[in-house]
Amino acid sequence: MQEKLAEIRKNAKEKIGSVIDLQGLNELKVKFLGKKGELTEILRSMGTISAEERPKFGSLVNEVRNEIEEAIKTAEENLKEKELEQKLEKEKIDITLPSTKIKRGSKHPLNRVIEEIEDLFVSMGYDVVAGPELETDEFCFERLNLPYGHPARDMQDSFYITDTLLLRTQTSAVQARVMLANEEKTPIRMICTGKTYRREDDATHSHQFNQVEGLVIDKKEKNVSLADLKGTLEVLVKKLLGENLQLRFRPSYFPFTEPSYEVDVTCFKCGGKGCPLCKKTGWIEVLGAGIVHPNVLKLNGYDPEKYSGFAFGTGLDRLAMFKYAIPDMRLLYTNDIRFLSQFDRKDEA
Ligand code: DAH
Repeated sequence: MQEKLAEIRKNAKEKIGSVIDLQGLNELKVKFLGKKGELTEILRSMGTISAEERPKFGSLVNEVRNEIEEAIKTAEENLKEKELEQKLEKEKIDITLPSTKIKRGSKHPLNRVIEEIEDLFVSMGYDVVAGPELETDEFCFERLNLPYGHPARDMQDSFYITDTLLLRTQTSAVQARVMLANEEKTPIRMICTGKTYRREDDATHSHQFNQVEGLVIDKKEKNVSLADLKGTLEVLVKKLLGENLQLRFRPSYFPFTEPSYEVDVTCFKCGGKGCPLCKKTGWIEVLGAGIVHPNVLKLNGYDPEKYSGFAFGTGLDRLAMFKYAIPDMRLLYTNDIRFLSQFDRKDEA
């Protein structure tokens, strides 16, 4: 009997250890532990054992039963886990399928030009400052030597919000703000880029446009001169538009500078030979500039006997149009994706 029990134990363990699915395990459970199973059979035949040995044998059978039950439980857990794994494996979602393409935006040509100019001037030691787009008449005109009734105001027909508040017509307004704020009268080297507004709208003008303004002021003995202005603008034009361009300074008039200049560059299209773009002159006007007018210094807290400097200003839209050969300024403001996407990675190459 004992031998039989030992055999059942061995047999059961072997079979349970090698069963491959839950159904097989169930069959083994019936075979060994079921009502007609091998262990039950042994228990039934206990009558043949002597009375003293019976309890000992009974507990041995129980021990084996427990062992087999334990083995079945462990095998059941393992098989269930294995089945779950197989199920998960089968039902795995294939995430490698190509997804639908998302359209990426691209940097606006104006922002490209603004960033390039700001980087360039920062590399020359300038500060980049900002001023309000809703500006006072005082800063936009008065403090720049353009008093009420000055004829030069006509060229900047503007959007007034009240009698004294308007959408700024020029970033020159920031000149006065920087000078007034600089109570210690430390050297000023600044540029300001930003939106400006005038009442005009055609292929070369938009009611909203962008300008960059530059201002340098230092003590008289530092002798900030026209030569410095010329050198600075040459760096700007050549770096932004092309190294082989020529610059031409033409006498002009601006209320805030004296002397004043319009700065022309050789026509990009014809190289200076004369074409419709440059109206057959070979030159294209790109900048206004000059030596800061003594009145402007005075109006903003500077003694013109002790300080001097230069200033310049230009339309960023025009620069972007020249740089990228954009035919109509309004393209810069209508945000047509077909237009904007043409600038993808052009600068990064
Ligand atoms: N503010 C002028 C304009 O909008 C441009 C300009 C000309 C700015 C000469 C300057 C300057 O600082 O010195 O037409």
